[in-house]
Amino acid sequence: MHQVEILDGGRAIGLSLEGVGRLRFHAIWLRDNAWDAATRAPGNGQRLITIADIPSEIRISAAGVEGNTLSLTFAPEGKTIAYDVGWLQAHSYDAERPRTTGWTAPELELWDAGLAAVPSASFTAVSSDRGELKRWLYGVRRFGFGKLNGGPVENGALLKVAALFGYIRETNYGKWFEVRTEVNPSNLAYTGLGLQAHTDNPYRDPVPTLQILYCLENSAKGGENMVVDGFKAATRLRAENPRGFELLSKHCARFEYAGSDGICLRARRPMIELAPDGELIAIRFNNRSAAAVTDVPFDEMEDYYAAYRRLGEIIDDPAMEVSFKLSPGECFIVDNTRVLHARKGYSGAGSRWLQGCYADKDGLLSTLAAMEMPRQEAAA
Ligand code: FE2
Repeated sequence: MHQVEILDGGRAIGLSLEGVGRLRFHAIWLRDNAWDAATRAPGNGQRLITIADIPSEIRISAAGVEGNTLSLTFAPEGKTIAYDVGWLQAHSYDAERPRTTGWTAPELELWDAGLAAVPSASFTAVSSDRGELKRWLYGVRRFGFGKLNGGPVENGALLKVAALFGYIRETNYGKWFEVRTEVNPSNLAYTGLGLQAHTDNPYRDPVPTLQILYCLENSAKGGENMVVDGFKAATRLRAENPRGFELLSKHCARFEYAGSDGICLRARRPMIELAPDGELIAIRFNNRSAAAVTDVPFDEMEDYYAAYRRLGEIIDDPAMEVSFKLSPGECFIVDNTRVLHARKGYSGAGSRWLQGCYADKDGLLSTLAAMEMPRQEAAA
């Protein structure tokens, strides 16, 4: 039997759940999270009230629990609202939070060169089988990258990959861009040189959160792709040098791209981005577009650079990289807020032609989350 008690003159309740323990909730929080038809639209679940509609002196005047339904009466409204105990348990906030700065979300798994296998799937399977698509998207969310094999070898095929879960993000580089050797390249990505592992376009705000690179030809020698888990690299830096981690997360770097006529993209963001509660939420690392850092105090600049250098060394450490060579019809997707990608140098013999595009991670996560909702699965 669950039990409820009114605390602090009605400003909170203590809900004792069998086998769980006591969870406290505030009156203001409970009122704001009511699910009655006058508070939430029954169809889409959107909240119909604003914070101003809740009296600031709100109190719980009566409380009772029967089975899995908690019933609360609020004063001065005199309104009685029913709550599902399971929902309250799932949304409880009455917990200790012993977290290290730089913690990562539980659905993520950090990796290095020891990663057992590249998260992969067949293009045909993910296109026709929702279960297979869900499995692949789950891997992309968990590891921050994934590979698809056996796709069509045709111009623009990468758009079909983005369409599996969402939408491309068009930029000044177009809906998609070509990655192949060019004479007089305007961007180093288009030459045969190797590129240090990087995140793309840190000079945009917001950055593109996903990148897809799709192979159409790859007979050149070399040119393997590699990926590095930026969250793993930042976590390693934090373990070795907490002060360096702090410097790269508390000060903004600057990034800029002005390599084409009419384009001048600039952003001011840290290389290691944390949420206000210390969650590691993004990495920006790109030597080609790093601009002059001007937001670090004089007394901290040398230490900042030492931390930047060390982060680069960790990223370049072969123990961090997972590499693979793409064949025509194969592609990979990276979470560009987390996983860095790189290309090893390739020779002029043969050809290498990739197409790349950007897309948004919120669309991918939405598609996956919708597939994970039990009622949607039942309806599918
Ligand atoms: Fe890139």
